[in-house]
Amino acid sequence: MNPIIGRARAPSNIALIKYMGKKEGSANLPENSSISLTLNSLCTLAEVSRELDGPVEFQWTGEAPEFVTGDGPVLVPQLQDEAISKIQSHVRRTDREVPAILKHFGLESFPPGGRFILKSANTFPAASGIASSASAFAAITLATTLTIACDKELFSRAFKSEPKLRSLLAAISRQGSGSSCRSFDGPWVFWENEQAEKLESRLPELAHFVLLVSASEKSVSSSTAHHRVKSSPLWSGRVDRANARAQQLKTALASGDLNQVARLSWSECWEMHSLFHTAEPPFTYWQPQTIGALNWFSAFLNSPASAANPFPIVTLDAGPNLHCLVPLEAAADWEQRIRTAFPDTVLLCDRQGKGAEVIS
Ligand code: DP6
Repeated sequence: MNPIIGRARAPSNIALIKYMGKKEGSANLPENSSISLTLNSLCTLAEVSRELDGPVEFQWTGEAPEFVTGDGPVLVPQLQDEAISKIQSHVRRTDREVPAILKHFGLESFPPGGRFILKSANTFPAASGIASSASAFAAITLATTLTIACDKELFSRAFKSEPKLRSLLAAISRQGSGSSCRSFDGPWVFWENEQAEKLESRLPELAHFVLLVSASEKSVSSSTAHHRVKSSPLWSGRVDRANARAQQLKTALASGDLNQVARLSWSECWEMHSLFHTAEPPFTYWQPQTIGALNWFSAFLNSPASAANPFPIVTLDAGPNLHCLVPLEAAADWEQRIRTAFPDTVLLCDRQGKGAEVIS
């Protein structure tokens, strides 16, 4: 029997209200709600080939998938054994749990089991503060699902048209890596407990820049950070503050108030990094250029706000690289300003996107 092939592409997302701190012993359930913007071409491409009559087995080939999407050069991440076994468990989980979801939408599944072979690659460096686990787990969940559904065409149509189906698959993906549940929809996604859903926004379309201060592996994984932030004296009250900020951000998105979105993002970024800096033991992702970039952007954010010349939306993830969002129509100006101020730093340019998609 020929193998069944599933191909998917999933973008990363950048959180303005952060998922930082998870409920102990849970399958990546967040302590507080978070809100992110789904990106477009900073993404993971995944290809799963499944042999139904093969032995129950999983293999990560360490090769790039055999399809191209126009997202530019792809990089195959170097995965340690621990990461491979996490992906293996996730593929098995997906194989176990997806049939019930598909049934709910009138779609049939192949029987569970068999041999899964995975190829995947990113369009950005892994573990550099650009959420590679978000795009990776979203892409792997979707590519695996495509090898479970008996009728790929019917599934693909339902995936496009049914927000509930995307949200249920996102909940499976979340168990592999929390932030991946926000990569199934877009551009704006709100995640609370088990549910990630698209948010309405009146903001203009946004461009996304990353000042790539460093592309090397981060010294403290985000899984460790989730745990360690709870040792900070600033953890007390953090969940309420983040939830309140998420509600304020929802309101600002709904009314299209760019300056308020930028203020909330800026405060949230400093608060998350303050948790890192005051944890026991403390740690930081900042490098000298991160501080230089934060100082440079703070001059804009500390100047008087105006609707005609809005603040840039600035944040850092768990990494040294600075993310900046500006309206698409102002993107060329900002790109020039940033390149002039940081001529020696690599600048990645992207824009908002719509979430994971099937590649046929
Ligand atoms: C700082 O989703 O990578 O990017 O659930 O352990 O895989 P796991 O964590 P992960 O955490 C992301 C944390 C963050 C903030 C965010 O994206 O909300």
